[in-house]
Amino acid sequence: MSWPPETLQTARLRLRKPLASDAEAVFGQLSGDAEVTRHLGWLTHHELAQSRQQISLDLLRWSRGSAWTWIVELDAHPVGMFRYSLVEPHMLRIGVMLARRHHGQGLMSEVTRRMIDEAFRVSAFHRIEALCDADNLPSRRMLERAGLRCEGRLASCIIHPNLSSLPRDAWLYAISRQQAQDAALIHPHRIPLEPSAP
Ligand SMILES: CC(C)(COP(=O)(O)OP(=O)(O)OC[C@H]1O[C@@H](n2cnc3c(N)ncnc32)[C@H](O)[C@@H]1OP(=O)(O)O)[C@@H](O)C(=O)NCCC(=O)NCCS
Repeated sequence: MSWPPETLQTARLRLRKPLASDAEAVFGQLSGDAEVTRHLGWLTHHELAQSRQQISLDLLRWSRGSAWTWIVELDAHPVGMFRYSLVEPHMLRIGVMLARRHHGQGLMSEVTRRMIDEAFRVSAFHRIEALCDADNLPSRRMLERAGLRCEGRLASCIIHPNLSSLPRDAWLYAISRQQAQDAALIHPHRIPLEPSAP
């Protein structure tokens, strides 16, 4: 059985593998919105072509097994993105963004909780982490709601080019398989799945 699944469901949201045709919605609500991209590691997109290119890259990474990006849909409309990047064979890093009008409704913490459970179905994965800008309070709150723990502040660790060309401090959040089990955040009966070969 291969991992990851191309579609997933939460109580309110559906996640699916991106399509080239998502570029307009992604550009319109996410990658082209300077408020959404403020604390991200790339410059706000100014042209639709940049978002098209990004989706092509996301699909390439999916096929190579280096990162997996899902479109988050609410009522069948794209409203966000969730990404797992493979940092080490045992470790994934979360990346998220959500359309501004849907912020603060608990949507991305709902997605993240579901994705933590999904990742720990794979016996190879033992740790999921996220790095967020020192000033990104909504992201910190979202990660805490989803069950990740703050492991500390990393000095001059991350470059967020929409804010500065200089490295900025970041908060490191993480959850281990054991912590998720202890907090009953994941289903106790694991299937020994392995990620699909690139
Ligand atoms: C980070 C992000 C995905 C959170 O999504 P979300 O669905 O709004 O998250 P949730 O509603 O699950 O949780 C957000 C928390 O932040 C709080 N919050 C929302 N806006 C806030 C603000 N401007 N200032 C402080 N807290 C805020 C919410 O009340 C909630 O906290 P609570 O549990 O105390 O109520 C969304 O804000 C976003 O897309 N930001 C831009 C992209 C980004 O920064 N990504 C993270 C990179 S690490």
